[in-house]
Amino acid sequence: MEKKHLNTKEYLWVALIFWSASFTAMEAPFSFVFKTKIQFWQLIVDGLISIFFILDLLYHLKEAKDAKKSSDFTPKKKKWISLILLLVDILSCIPFDLLSHFLGHQDLFTAFRFLRMIRIIKVYYLIENITIVPKIFKIQSIAIACLMVVNWIACGWIFIYPMGADTDVTTYYIKSFYWALTTLTTIGYGDITPHDNIGRIFTCLIMIIGVGMYGVVIGNISRMLASADRYKELSREKISDLVMFMKHYNVPEKLQKAAINHYGHLYSKRLSDNDEKIIADLPHALQHEMQIYMKIKLISSIPIFHNCGHKCLKDISTRLEQIYSSPGDLIIKIGDIGTEMFILAHGNVDVILESGERIATLHDGQIFGEVALLKETNRTANVQSQTYCDLYKLTKASFDEIIKNYPDLLSTIEATTRRRSTDKKS
Ligand code: CMP
Repeated sequence: MEKKHLNTKEYLWVALIFWSASFTAMEAPFSFVFKTKIQFWQLIVDGLISIFFILDLLYHLKEAKDAKKSSDFTPKKKKWISLILLLVDILSCIPFDLLSHFLGHQDLFTAFRFLRMIRIIKVYYLIENITIVPKIFKIQSIAIACLMVVNWIACGWIFIYPMGADTDVTTYYIKSFYWALTTLTTIGYGDITPHDNIGRIFTCLIMIIGVGMYGVVIGNISRMLASADRYKELSREKISDLVMFMKHYNVPEKLQKAAINHYGHLYSKRLSDNDEKIIADLPHALQHEMQIYMKIKLISSIPIFHNCGHKCLKDISTRLEQIYSSPGDLIIKIGDIGTEMFILAHGNVDVILESGERIATLHDGQIFGEVALLKETNRTANVQSQTYCDLYKLTKASFDEIIKNYPDLLSTIEATTRRRSTDKKS
């Protein structure tokens, strides 16, 4: 099965179906073994779950139809499995509690409700095939799966040893649940024991399942914890390699600190050392599209580009080159010929006059180096990195072409420059 990517609404919908299927999977065996009379709230819940299942079925039928339209290849051997699953899906949509309430035959309808339990397998299968499963979803599905298994085993015990007249449903269920849990975890206090062969065979079976379940649950939880810390672990590993390297070469302490801080900055910002590396395995064309999209996203949040349309943003983005600078780096030197302008994506830079006076500090989303390009003069100030900076560079040729095609943008940039020169004078 191909991995599916869900949006927020689809996640919420899967969660709703998951909870509905889980509820039925727990409640159906309980009602079956205790033969409890259907309560009013159960009728309401039963009706609601039926509605959710019908909507889900319709959604999946539409999805399957659309998928068929877009591809004429359907694996033949899977057709009969799909038909059986479809039949189970249709049957599980029927509100059996409501039917038994109005038509009687509760035993027959309760047995039919077990069909709904098959849905839980489908939901878990779906969750397994989602590309990114939110952590809350994973925790929930493990917890509910454990609860469900213990509940089924408790109900199995109640089926073998039905409740006597001297006790009530709650007490007997709790007792059975307790037995199931202590047997499954192989703790087995021995205060509740099977007293015939069927009970003993059932207990043996549960102990064997318990050992397997332990492995699955522990494995899943440790996998989840390991992946939660993956990026931190990666950054720690990289930094410790770097520290060892620098110690080996006796790198001065100041330089060591700067290098470590640089990694710290990259990891805290993007959880990886480089955006480019994350998308490096994608096909070239897709990688290129992704880079442009990332740049469009970045520059569209910058005030001077607020009024630019998508085409203009795309034109600028395709021409931008990403560079980095460290604290103290001189990005622009006063008096030099201006060959490019810069967009400060992240970090702070100081604008310093020849006298050493700092006239401005620019932050995320501001541009600099535009004056020399616009006025065709030499650089009017030094620009020095105050922190680690992520910058985008636009060459003079690209700048000229952009402002020729988008004169509105030229006026916005000119307005910024005018404001800056007034600031300088005052
Ligand atoms: P440019 O002259 O090409 O190179 C130095 C840059 O510093 C200049 O373009 C402006 O982008 C920037 N700059 C100059 N003066 C100020 C100011 N007062 N406020 C903010 N930025 C400035």
